[in-house]
Amino acid sequence: MRLHVADHPLITHKITVLRDKNTPSPVFRQLTSELMTLLAYEATRNVRVEPCEIETPVTRTTGVKISDPRPLVVPILRAGLGMLDGMVTLIPTAEVGFLGMARDEVTFEPVTYAERLPEDLSDRQCFVLDPMLATGGSLGAAIEFLFRRGAQEVTAVCLLGSPEGVAAIEKQVAGRNVTLVLGALDERLNEKGYIVPGLGDAGDRLYGTV
Ligand code: PRP
Ligand code: URA
Repeated sequence: MRLHVADHPLITHKITVLRDKNTPSPVFRQLTSELMTLLAYEATRNVRVEPCEIETPVTRTTGVKISDPRPLVVPILRAGLGMLDGMVTLIPTAEVGFLGMARDEVTFEPVTYAERLPEDLSDRQCFVLDPMLATGGSLGAAIEFLFRRGAQEVTAVCLLGSPEGVAAIEKQVAGRNVTLVLGALDERLNEKGYIVPGLGDAGDRLYGTV
C-alpha cells in the first residue's frame, strides 16, 4: 500500500477549523468539500489518461484526455457524501457509485446497508471517499467490496486517519494495488474508537445527529 499524508499549510489550516468543536455545520460542509478538492490533486496523480489530438487556434497538437472507462468515485455514506462535490469538481466526468455503511458503535464492525455500484469493476480505477479512518473496519470492508467486484486498483481518500486504522488497512490489502491519501495522520484511537484529537463524529457534524 502506498500512503500519502498531506503536507501543505492550507490543508492543515482547513483541518484545524474542522477540528474546532465550535465550527458550525455549514462551514464544516464547505471545508470538507474544499479539502477534498485539494486532496484530489494528490489522489488523482495516477489517473489513467490517453493521448489525444486537438487543434488550438494556432496549430494542431497532442495532449491527453482521461481514459475510458471513466474513474469511479465511491463515497461511503453518510459522511463520505460530504466529499463528493469536492472530488467531482476536479473530475467532472467521473462516474459515481455508492456504498452505505454504518459502524456498530459497540463492536466497531461495519454494517453495509446500501450499495449502488457497477457489477463489474475489472477495468475501473476506483476512488473511495470517507472522511474518517478510525479502526479501519468501514474502509477495509469498502475496499474488499470493490476488489470482490473485480477492481484492480483502489485509491482511498480520508481527511483524518489513525495509526491503528492505517495499520489495519495496510495488513488487509497487502500485495494489492491500494493508495491511501490522508489529510492528516492523528495520534491514536480512544476507547470509544474515536480518532484523537480528531474532529468528533463526521457524519453528525456534516448532517446533524440522526
Ligand atoms: C464513520 C466514518 C467512517 C467510519 C470510520 O461513519 O464516516 O465511515 O465511521 O470508523 P471505522 O474506521 O472504525 O470503521 P459512521 O459509521 O459513523 O456512519 P455515518 O457516516 O453515517 O455517520
Ligand atoms: N467515526 C467518526 O465520525 N469519527 C471518529 O473519530 C471515528 C469514527
